[in-house]
Amino acid sequence: MKLNRRELIAASASTGALMGLGLGLGTTFAANNNLITRAVPASGENLPVIGIGTNRWVAGGTAEETAGLRNALRTFNELGGRVIDTAPAYRTSETVLGILIEELDIRDAFFLATKVDRAGTEEGIARMEDSLTKLGTDQLDLMQVHNMRDADNQLETMFDWKDKGLLRYVGITTSRVDQFAEMERLMNAFPLDFIQVNYSLGEPQAAERILPTAIDRKAAVLVNRPFGRGRLFKKVADVSLPAWAAGFDCSSWAQYMLKYVVAHPAVTCAIPGMTKAKHVEDNMGAGKGRLPDSAQRKQQEELFASL
Ligand SMILES: NC(=O)c1ccc[n+]([C@@H]2O[C@H](COP(=O)([O-])OP(=O)(O)OC[C@H]3O[C@@H](n4cnc5c(N)ncnc54)[C@H](OP(=O)(O)O)[C@@H]3O)[C@@H](O)[C@H]2O)c1
Repeated sequence: MKLNRRELIAASASTGALMGLGLGLGTTFAANNNLITRAVPASGENLPVIGIGTNRWVAGGTAEETAGLRNALRTFNELGGRVIDTAPAYRTSETVLGILIEELDIRDAFFLATKVDRAGTEEGIARMEDSLTKLGTDQLDLMQVHNMRDADNQLETMFDWKDKGLLRYVGITTSRVDQFAEMERLMNAFPLDFIQVNYSLGEPQAAERILPTAIDRKAAVLVNRPFGRGRLFKKVADVSLPAWAAGFDCSSWAQYMLKYVVAHPAVTCAIPGMTKAKHVEDNMGAGKGRLPDSAQRKQQEELFASL
């Protein structure tokens, strides 16, 4: 079942799902200052190294689904999280986020990133206008060309929108190694503020050319699939976290995987997909304390290769 924004609000209101957590409208939450931040090269703006991916933020309208996502978003905000990655391709994700951000009245706390995934100038403009409407804002922090579809064309529009103040930053995304050559071409052809790429202990290929090129081109880097779409957890299901992980303030496998990613000097922010508050709490812990140094990262890789 797919609901539009108005229908979702009605469904949520009728069940009381969005107000059922003891949080009133207008609630604001203090940012947690203990999170590690990284500067966006284009501006110097600091962002916490752990964000949130929302490609599974699908709410068909049931009270349980919406309440769970609201709790995850509230927890993310309470723990100082800022970067939210969504896309029109993620079914109800933009719509649900727009509703929850409005109801919690915390738009200013977030750095909202979405994507355009259409070929053709008019089609791209219509898609971006729709994202602004669904997310309930007149300016997006970051617009990205999803999987670089029709990128040369879409980027022309996006830089125009940036000039007009409708977007703060412009970027491109992929999660496929076979698109890395095209990503490198675009990084060299355009003054991109951001790139978004898959990088993890299970998919380390971006470290070969993409991440060094991002440093050279002064592009901020969002990392998608830091858990290999969750598959990396299967590898460690029956394995104890090594005692030496405490040497970089790591107390779970999720933190082990995320700290590996954000310790890379090119990485600005990892955006693990998470729909549950308990996962948000665990993952935000990766944005605190010490990060692994290069010798410890090597140790992390060797352990993972041995599993
Ligand atoms: N081409 C692109 O532009 C592109 C492609 C892929 C992804 N992305 C973006 O990147 C984001 C991340 O990628 P992804 O979501 O596909 O994969 P991922 O982040 O590697 O893995 C997400 C999975 O890990 C689980 N998880 C999260 N934290 C956990 C924890 N602490 N312990 C145990 N399990 C945990 C999640 O469960 P729960 O959901 O149950 O919390 C979910 O099943 C996406 O949401 C999307 O925003 C962009």
